Amino acid sequence: MTTPLILMGTGDHALVMLDFIQREGFGEVLGVLSPCESAKTWTQTPVLGSDSDVAKMIAKYPHAQFVVAIGNNATRLKVGNDIEKLGGTLASIISKTAVISPQAVIGAGGMILPFVVVHPKAEVGRLALLNTGAIVEHHCQLGEAVHLAPRSVLGGRVTVGSQTLMGVGACAKPAVTIGANVTVGAGSAVVADVANGLTVCGVPAKPL
Ligand SMILES: CC(C)(COP(=O)(O)OP(=O)(O)OC[C@H]1O[C@@H](n2cnc3c(N)ncnc32)[C@H](O)[C@@H]1OP(=O)(O)O)[C@@H](O)C(=O)NCCC(=O)NCCS
Repeated sequence: MTTPLILMGTGDHALVMLDFIQREGFGEVLGVLSPCESAKTWTQTPVLGSDSDVAKMIAKYPHAQFVVAIGNNATRLKVGNDIEKLGGTLASIISKTAVISPQAVIGAGGMILPFVVVHPKAEVGRLALLNTGAIVEHHCQLGEAVHLAPRSVLGGRVTVGSQTLMGVGACAKPAVTIGANVTVGAGSAVVADVANGLTVCGVPAKPL
């Protein structure tokens, strides 16, 4: 029996997740919850309600798991926390083409897209979004709701704080520490520690 899934969100990332879930056969998507009016014409997938209907959905579909398909890190963390507070279960969606070491740890609610690699002893926090082709080397430590955009790369023993975004194709030198709520620009190379809350970009990455 496949797991019934409810998708949170109807933005671009949700579209990618829906397509990927259906193609790889992770489970039956019962529908989506979205606060947006435009959701009504989003896809063929039924819109079951808005974010405020989570408790109702848990009561109606007690075996369903929630995919928090929201690209914004802060919003994804908030929505994921709210679901768990209400007793809901976060689905972890890991592509069949991802290579995840059995010695790596992936937190609840992780979305691991095709061709991602996570090496031994890496720890990935809850609600992480490891986007297409991202690479997490050995012993990396990622906080909650981190987003590694497509083809971003973390060298060994890199630490990434909660809600940080590594932009498309960005990379980090082994053993650097990138703080929480940091944005690393697309194509940038982080070669030194980055303090919380900064936006850095360029090669080498410098504060914007
Ligand atoms: C770094 C970033 C956050 C800056 O965005 P912003 O604050 O709107 O900045 P602007 O686009 O106004 O650019 C400001 C300056 O930084 C430069 N810049 C912007 N992004 C840069 C990058 N990734 N690398 C190098 N320089 C960059 C611009 O050329 C501009 O330089 P100038 O002042 O000399 O003209 C953004 O460009 C970026 O790279 N975001 C990552 C997006 C991404 O990969 N998302 C994942 C989707 S899956």
